[in-house]
Amino acid sequence: MRKKIVAGNWKMNKNSSETADLLTQLTGTLPNTTAEVMVAPTFVNLALAVKQMAGSSVEVVAQNMHFAQSGAYTGEISSNMLQSIGIETVILGHSERRAYFGEDDALLAKKVDAAMDADMRVIFCFGEELQDRKAGDHFKVVENQLKNGLFHLETTQWKKIVLAYEPVWAIGTGETASPDQAQEMHAFIRKTIAEAYDQETAQVVTILYGGSVKPANANEIFSKPDVDGGLIGGAALNAEDFAAIVAAI
Ligand code: PGA
Repeated sequence: MRKKIVAGNWKMNKNSSETADLLTQLTGTLPNTTAEVMVAPTFVNLALAVKQMAGSSVEVVAQNMHFAQSGAYTGEISSNMLQSIGIETVILGHSERRAYFGEDDALLAKKVDAAMDADMRVIFCFGEELQDRKAGDHFKVVENQLKNGLFHLETTQWKKIVLAYEPVWAIGTGETASPDQAQEMHAFIRKTIAEAYDQETAQVVTILYGGSVKPANANEIFSKPDVDGGLIGGAALNAEDFAAIVAAI
């Protein structure tokens, strides 16, 4: 059985008191579930979030990290720093990191390696842009992102990898991939992993869908056989909406 996960990516939203408030609301609203539930506040609020959620089943995760352990990298945060406050999972490769901060596949491969060295879990994001899909290149683009970012890993390291397919054209736009488009791509991702590794690795890895998942469409998207949950942006900033999406899994 694959792990089901619903993760909220708060992006650059919520100051300290707002973070504490939203976590309090979530604690009162989230349904019981066998799925893993995660929230990713900003770096400055991670420590308070870890403290506040101690003893709950909600895991606090980071939105990014640097590949080095320490050193002259002004403004950056390392795996060691995250782990020292109780963070064991990091989102890497989000399309906003790729688009606005120049993170390319080669850099992401180094970040993935840093996470593996630290025995952290990675939620690895990837997905095509609208122009890729229009040109019919979406499978090729996704295959390359996987190859360049992850396929240097050993088979055993895949137990620390969660995938998040996020078509860039669906992020924050209100436009979602149709459940069939999501299923089609998730099945392709599994096939690609099976070819590079083996069937078991492909069948065991959790693949999340991300991009305008809302309470209204979560059920249908999550009903697809190769969709194991969601990475939620906008809707994760509202406790009731996030709780409804968790209920849908
Ligand atoms: P969205 O963001 O749900 O607001 O589209 C998803 C994401 O960026 O992970």
